[in-house]
Amino acid sequence: MERSRVIIDRAACIGCGLCSRVCAAHNIAVTDHKAVTVLDDCMLCGQCSAVCPQKAISLSGCPDRQIEKKGEVRLEPRDVLEVIRFRRSIRSFKETPVPGEVIAQVLEAGRLTHTAKNSQDVSFVVLDKEKDRIEKMAVRVFRTIKPVADLFSPMAKNNKIDDNFFFFRAPAVIVILAKDKTNGLLAAQNMEFVAEAHGLGVLYSGFFTMAANASRKIKKALGVPKGEKAAMTLVLGYPDVRFLRSTPHKKLDARFL
Ligand SMILES: Cc1cc2nc3c(=O)[nH]c(=O)nc-3n(C[C@H](O)[C@H](O)[C@H](O)COP(=O)(O)O)c2cc1C
Repeated sequence: MERSRVIIDRAACIGCGLCSRVCAAHNIAVTDHKAVTVLDDCMLCGQCSAVCPQKAISLSGCPDRQIEKKGEVRLEPRDVLEVIRFRRSIRSFKETPVPGEVIAQVLEAGRLTHTAKNSQDVSFVVLDKEKDRIEKMAVRVFRTIKPVADLFSPMAKNNKIDDNFFFFRAPAVIVILAKDKTNGLLAAQNMEFVAEAHGLGVLYSGFFTMAANASRKIKKALGVPKGEKAAMTLVLGYPDVRFLRSTPHKKLDARFL
């Protein structure tokens, strides 16, 4: 497959240099009042094409249509902070299914999340018909290792691994795959925000993620490509619990140097 490249329409270019200013790779120069790429090789972040007032820059072979920004969307900072304060991990869900359009928006939040070096190495597995079968596989993995975990952790000893240990009977589960776990986790956080905006409750299942990465069978069932791993698993559904106040947190630990 041909690698994508930055294409500059010389006729449309007015040589303003905005593309050169935003290029993190210093890969665009302006010569004779026209923008030119230095190398064919860059991280293809697309900032040059997003900033160009003449729409003179595009990325070849990129199927994603660029959307014109109509105006500034500014969230009220205090509202954002309150959303963060009152979001809770949800482990009790209504049976109500999550509509396909909502899942699609949650996935879109993941797709649009930034990645280191613009690697866009994140993909998603939405568990539907296979959800219960795959959860059972993870339950088997955890039941096998539980006796060892019990030796080291009283909390593990206290924790019964029932058949719904990972997904809590939630109607929707999305496993986030990535080469770089940090990229997958960033996607997870944005996906949670969109899910919450739809009234969904979310649980990060670190345990399922761990089981998936430990088991060749689960990886195969999920279709994890070589070189990738599960970065996080989001368990989603409409909450069947209502929290009445925030939870206690440690005092801010921040130093200003
Ligand atoms: C990376 C990560 C992994 C987690 N994995 C699990 C999990 O496997 N099972 C679970 O019940 N909760 C899991 N949690 C939820 C945490 O226990 C929870 O966030 C924490 O107790 C604080 O509660 P809160 O989210 O309601 O503020 C996970 C949270 C994070 C951030």
